Amino acid sequence: MAMKGVILAGGLGKRLNPLTKITNKHLLPVYCKPMIYYPIQTLVDAGISDILIVTGGMHAGEFLRLLGNGKEFGLKHINYTYQEGEGGIAEALGLARHFADNEKIVVILGDNIIEKSIKGAVDEFRKQPKGARILLKKVDDPERFGVAELKGEKLVSIEEKPKKPKSDYAVTGIYMYDRQVFEIIKTLKPSHRGELEITDVNNAYLKKGELAYSILDGWWTDAGTFESLLRANNLVAKSSGKCE
Ligand code: DAU
Repeated sequence: MAMKGVILAGGLGKRLNPLTKITNKHLLPVYCKPMIYYPIQTLVDAGISDILIVTGGMHAGEFLRLLGNGKEFGLKHINYTYQEGEGGIAEALGLARHFADNEKIVVILGDNIIEKSIKGAVDEFRKQPKGARILLKKVDDPERFGVAELKGEKLVSIEEKPKKPKSDYAVTGIYMYDRQVFEIIKTLKPSHRGELEITDVNNAYLKKGELAYSILDGWWTDAGTFESLLRANNLVAKSSGKCE
């Protein structure tokens, strides 16, 4: 079955001001390419060619100008939708309901960049009869992320940016969901930061006993702060060599 892909590239990127004053965060350069190129390539490399980009803010039109129908990625067509405001990752995902059309989806945050392929995890999810699958990665600074608590191999909880992380396993911004995700999103209440949190979505699946996980292979970084944007540039430069 063909799986669909959703890239979340909304939000205002306030943590990167003034870089994001006149453009969208996901259009900023990461080594040779605009940031958004990397999550698109991640999906394409996993065999996903039906892609929706959720964007927002003042510069949404630039995505169409930059990407068109995705010819550079070997795509025939890209779908776009617009998020008003900055109501959170889960709110942005809620806008993908019609596109998903009851099928399973792979979701990636527009500022998440990885070294290797997620094809293995996506294939596992294809075989999974129902529920969700997240990708975990060991990091040095788990307090910046959603953190997974593991008891042995068992995933027992996820906490969003905990002061005292219960493990070093960050929940990366790559998520796989079945159709239930849109019903779950409808039940969410805004968090203390005023957003619908993707961690709440994942915990809802966990509570039902329907949340699986894989460990991500190779390096992973986000790029939403000055530090992580620089890190993303350095990691990509190191692993891809010269710009063509
Ligand atoms: O990078 C992984 C982390 O991403 C996870 O470990 C966390 O659990 C998850 O909450 C998220 O954390 P951040 O606070 O770093 O997410 P941020 O607000 O930077 O948003 C990440 C991307 O999500 C952003 O590049 C675009 C998309 N987004 C975000 C918001 C708030 C939207 O499309 N719409 C939004 O309203």
